[in-house]
Amino acid sequence: MYAPAAATNAEREGDFVSRHVPVLVDEIVDMLVTRPGAVFVDLTLNGGGHARAFLRVLPADNAYIGLDRDRKALDRARSVLAGFGDRVRYVYGNFADSAELLADYRGRAANVLLDLGLSADQIADPARGFSFTVDGPLDMRADTSAGVTAATVVNTLLEDELADVFYRFGEERSAKAIASAITKARRTVPIATTSDLVEILAGVAPGVGRRHPATRVFQALRIYVNDELGALETGLPAAVDLLAPGGRIFIISYHSLEDRIAKERFRRAVDEGLLELVQKRVIKPSREEISVNPAARSARLRAAERL
Ligand SMILES: C[S@@+](CC[C@H](N)C(=O)[O-])C[C@H]1O[C@@H](n2cnc3c(N)ncnc32)[C@H](O)[C@@H]1O
Repeated sequence: MYAPAAATNAEREGDFVSRHVPVLVDEIVDMLVTRPGAVFVDLTLNGGGHARAFLRVLPADNAYIGLDRDRKALDRARSVLAGFGDRVRYVYGNFADSAELLADYRGRAANVLLDLGLSADQIADPARGFSFTVDGPLDMRADTSAGVTAATVVNTLLEDELADVFYRFGEERSAKAIASAITKARRTVPIATTSDLVEILAGVAPGVGRRHPATRVFQALRIYVNDELGALETGLPAAVDLLAPGGRIFIISYHSLEDRIAKERFRRAVDEGLLELVQKRVIKPSREEISVNPAARSARLRAAERL
């Protein structure tokens, strides 16, 4: 099983050592298209965890194009992947815009990767406000230079709108009660931090089993703030357009809302004669992988080949 080597000096950014472990690496490596002179397009580069693993096994003349909408993550990738020199090109932007951003690579990619969601490094960074376990400003924007923060969302949306966000993007059964508690609390003082929100939620929503009561609300806000499902709906067909004939697309999702879109889009592309599934069934991490990287437990991989 893939185990990331300890970070070398070239892979450290100052004192920063990544806590993100790329998932399902061996499973993807087994399916990679390896051709001389090929292009790999990674639409969710982050700190370059998958990139580092794939660059090691791809032919040395393959180029690796890494895109992300988080500038801080791209900077980390630059440092981690420095040893691969000009084989790697870095692109800042949203993969929903990849038809324009990556127009030069249309029809040229041997492999395309979408590893959705957030990395452990983004979640653990208190300044980003993604985690209910660390106190920080309630921001949640993947691209901190654009859009509205989660604090603005919880302080300004109408009660019904908030309930809709929690229900649609968090599948939260207590959505109405939570929205009501939030609108009541914000009348006294605006909600500014992750802890402010967690305190309100703890009073309303029971956790299920070992799940923290804030899990679904934080997921819903993050999806809403970053329009994650909209980006996937637009980005997936654009990602398929990047593939050369025989090229393969890999999508890793972490919750059922994303996986549903991936499954449906793949089915449509198969019906249209654009793609063929590489594996009929969704691929899950092995028990062994989950035991060393519990964050991998919800990962689901789908792979398809361009006809
Ligand atoms: C799970 S992490 C990827 C981890 C990476 N594969 C690795 O092994 O290091 C997901 C990354 O996708 C980025 N991302 C999510 N949605 C995006 C979008 N619509 N456009 C561009 N980047 C996006 C996030 O900023 C994050 O860096």
